[in-house]
Amino acid sequence: MFGRLGRELRTLILTALALIMPRLAAPVTSPADASTSTQLAAVRISGQRRISFNANWRFYKGEAQGAEKPGFNDSQWKLLRLPHDWAIEGPFDEKLNPSTGGLPVSGTGWYRKSFLLPQGAQGHSFTIFFDGAMANSTVWLNGEELGGRPYGYSSFFFDLTRHLHFGSQTNVLAVRLEPEPDSSRWYPGAGIYRNVWLDITAPVHVAEWGTYVTTPQVSDEKAIVAVRTEVRNQSEQEVQVVVRQTVVDQLGRSVARSTTEKFEVSADATRTVPVSVTVPNPQRWDIDHPYLYTLVTEVLRGEQVIDKYSTTFGIRTIAFDRDKGFLLNGKPRKLHGVCLHHDLGALGAAVNRRATQRELQILQAAGVNAIRTSHNPPSPELLELSDRMGLVVMDEAFDMWRIPKVQNGYSKYYDQWSERDLRDLARRDRNHPSVILWSIGNEIPEQSSPNGWKEAKRLTDFFHEEDPTRPTTSAMNEWADAIRTHFADNVDIKGFNYQPMHYEQIMHDHPDWVIFGSETESCVSSRGVYHLPFESFEKPPSHQISSYDVVAPAWAYCPDVEFTYQDKLPNVFGEFVWTGFDYIGEPTPYFDGKQDHDWPARSSYFGFVDLAGFPKDRYYLYQSQWTTKPMVHILPHWNWQGHEAQIIPVMAYSNAEEVELFLNGKSLGRKKRFNDPWEMPVGHNVSESGKFMTKYRLLWQVPYQSGTLKAVAYSGGRQVGEQEIRTAGAPAKIKLGADRSVIHADGVDLSYVTVRIEDKDGNLCPLADNLVHFKVSGAGEIAAVDNGNAATTEPFQADHRHAFSGMALLILRSHPEPGNIHVVATSEGITQAQLDVRTESSAKE
Ligand code: GAL
Repeated sequence: MFGRLGRELRTLILTALALIMPRLAAPVTSPADASTSTQLAAVRISGQRRISFNANWRFYKGEAQGAEKPGFNDSQWKLLRLPHDWAIEGPFDEKLNPSTGGLPVSGTGWYRKSFLLPQGAQGHSFTIFFDGAMANSTVWLNGEELGGRPYGYSSFFFDLTRHLHFGSQTNVLAVRLEPEPDSSRWYPGAGIYRNVWLDITAPVHVAEWGTYVTTPQVSDEKAIVAVRTEVRNQSEQEVQVVVRQTVVDQLGRSVARSTTEKFEVSADATRTVPVSVTVPNPQRWDIDHPYLYTLVTEVLRGEQVIDKYSTTFGIRTIAFDRDKGFLLNGKPRKLHGVCLHHDLGALGAAVNRRATQRELQILQAAGVNAIRTSHNPPSPELLELSDRMGLVVMDEAFDMWRIPKVQNGYSKYYDQWSERDLRDLARRDRNHPSVILWSIGNEIPEQSSPNGWKEAKRLTDFFHEEDPTRPTTSAMNEWADAIRTHFADNVDIKGFNYQPMHYEQIMHDHPDWVIFGSETESCVSSRGVYHLPFESFEKPPSHQISSYDVVAPAWAYCPDVEFTYQDKLPNVFGEFVWTGFDYIGEPTPYFDGKQDHDWPARSSYFGFVDLAGFPKDRYYLYQSQWTTKPMVHILPHWNWQGHEAQIIPVMAYSNAEEVELFLNGKSLGRKKRFNDPWEMPVGHNVSESGKFMTKYRLLWQVPYQSGTLKAVAYSGGRQVGEQEIRTAGAPAKIKLGADRSVIHADGVDLSYVTVRIEDKDGNLCPLADNLVHFKVSGAGEIAAVDNGNAATTEPFQADHRHAFSGMALLILRSHPEPGNIHVVATSEGITQAQLDVRTESSAKE
């Protein structure tokens, strides 16, 4: 049966292509206009609805009078490929705001792209689509202003059709950006930092974001898939069309189809048509089974398919229940979530699919099943990957409304743009099965104002209008105010930031509310750094914070506190840790709003993974709580030369029942998880005494003696895991390891190479900071380097890096031609290392 459906679908696709191709496949051989610059590219009209428009842009940092005019000479501008973040190129500068990373995130920047369209393409509709441009963009085509967008995180598009030239006359797209200083509390990046697309369609076509797919009925036998499709008619005549919806499963089989009656769409108008399709025996989309379907929407005029539009969707149910918490497909799921800012570490804000996927893979391995896109609309790639990988998403609109948090923040644009930005967010993202909650904002100061609730209602209403299937929430930090002012009443699900101590009271006082920890912990640490005594809340002059995982700013607390309250109250449906990864900017506690002596701290310490993507110890504390595959992790390192016989606290994070610690083969005793609590230091916001009993980590006080520290984990009386740390000798060699040794030869794909400084026996040298030089040749190049140190001004774009706590990172980017990337890493006085990464035209992920 499936073979037949598969054949049917193939026939359908081939017929559709055959019908479209003759109209679109005009040869593209027009000669370039000789007067224009080398960025000029001939657009290949291939029959695909959407093509990448990232290649061959010219960029200029600064003001350029008249650059919107087609005849402007940009031949001296830098030729580049988008996505592009000019700020990440640096340099770091003490005079710039450390909260935005001490990087040049403001100023004016111009981008121009010249292109030709074949004569035969005339009669089609053309839409330029920006996934995001940071910020305050204005866009021109051939000197005509199309519009712009202040909010750098919003996706937006313009119809180009009326202003285009065909044949030998060049088209010029010009984009001016003007990100303002003091416009963000974290590193925003600067430039056209997300992908740009050109959509080429028949004049009658499915509008951009023009499908809305919901599943009003789902059972094991069938799912009703309800689709609302917006058909846009850009021609000057009324047309009669039908819309055909086909649901295709992951094997490419057509599993359901439905066609509308013939209907009219007036000239220059859009019409919305509902269609229901029944999918038999649906596969559910779930965290452990992220099954996706594709809805293929075709617009037919007579027998001819004139447009084809694909929507990825999932069949799943969500519910939020006072007693059971969050239910996915009827099953309660605690959210083990993290907040993420949008930067991709050393790559800056420039979107890269592989970099995003790597982040999510590293997080999933710690048991993360939920992402909060703090505090803004995410890249489309993040949602596409969350759909595919089985992560649920809290999709957030804003960090501020009218009351500013920074001088030139979104408040300046709120009145004019908030409705548009929010509706666009909903329309862009509402087909993603991963999205389960809409957030109207983070720590919005209006939660304390008497009329703030009206604004909360207004935004909630917009979301409900665009998507009645998902509830709204807001991340509220002033919990008592938000309740008193009725702000909290005007979101569906109540998110509280940093309030585990009050969950019980809130639930008691509000017996109908469903609540969760929308932002939690904000513990800070530097990977591989340990200070004694470990109960210090000071900010050390080294700009590095101890990884004993007890340090947190005044409003915050360590993970154990949240675990304690979440375990006590199973109907609080989970948490979003601040943060999964470190991010550029906001180097708390070395930044208190003033530019002072805290430089060069320039990126955050909050992540349980550092900026380079290396897990800190805290990562394993979450893993011990959020995963079941046996694991044990011990800290600190075991290189305490000069501290012989001094007591060194040793902690174990494990999901096993018991852990036994050995020093040089001698047992230091077994401890039971949950049964050997001890008092750890916390802030006074958590407990008046400044002490808190934790049962989530095990502690031994060990008189230091060099050698081997070993932890053995047991469950059910059996050994289920172990970890060993040895005192390392002097740095002797470099060790390189690539996360993927075969990557796509496409000029975009990345291989992340971990660089370790090891002693002669292969032990990591935990204090090593050797300077490593990289020579990269062949089919790729250096995309960036890093080491996870939050307080260094070494550039990310370089061919060298110091190790930090024994490690560094080299990010390789492929060239479009397949081949071999050869890396040689050298460092004075130690043995060099070499590595090869193959690039293939069809490399698998
Ligand atoms: C929260 C805020 C986050 C971040 C965090 C640091 O209050 O929502 O954006 O600033 O504090 O702890």
